[in-house]
Amino acid sequence: MKIIVINGPNLNLLGIREKDIYGSNNYESLCRFIEEQAKILDVQVEIFQSNIEGEIINKIHSAYGNADGIIINPAAYTHYSYAILDALKSVNIKTVEVHLSNIYAREEFRNKSVIAPACIGQISGFGFLGYKFALESLKAA
Ligand code: DQA
Repeated sequence: MKIIVINGPNLNLLGIREKDIYGSNNYESLCRFIEEQAKILDVQVEIFQSNIEGEIINKIHSAYGNADGIIINPAAYTHYSYAILDALKSVNIKTVEVHLSNIYAREEFRNKSVIAPACIGQISGFGFLGYKFALESLKAA
């Protein structure tokens, strides 16, 4: 089983950005955590991060015929990218949306995900663990 993990803008600055919200572990340690969990579950994982909407869309397209599942943290694009929503609907691959923080306990604009309708589910507020839960749910799906 192959799963593509896509992380959106500013997640490369984990450990630097808003540590009170996102914690002090850096992006490298998130990638290592995901790889460890994938190994435990015997799942092949490819991790991709971009700050550019079009690159995220191209990565979603590349999953077509190539991956059994997608885990996506679209970061701020969550709240307004209909292009990412359409890309996920186009490839029709089981997708889980993940957020490190609880988007429902923050500013009002974060309470809305335009991506969620294209996903089998959403995990929000559990930090790195959210990616583990997402891997487990795709494995079980
Ligand atoms: C985030 C939540 C988004 O609202 C925010 O723009 C991010 C990160 C999260 O993982 O909690 O960049 O997706």
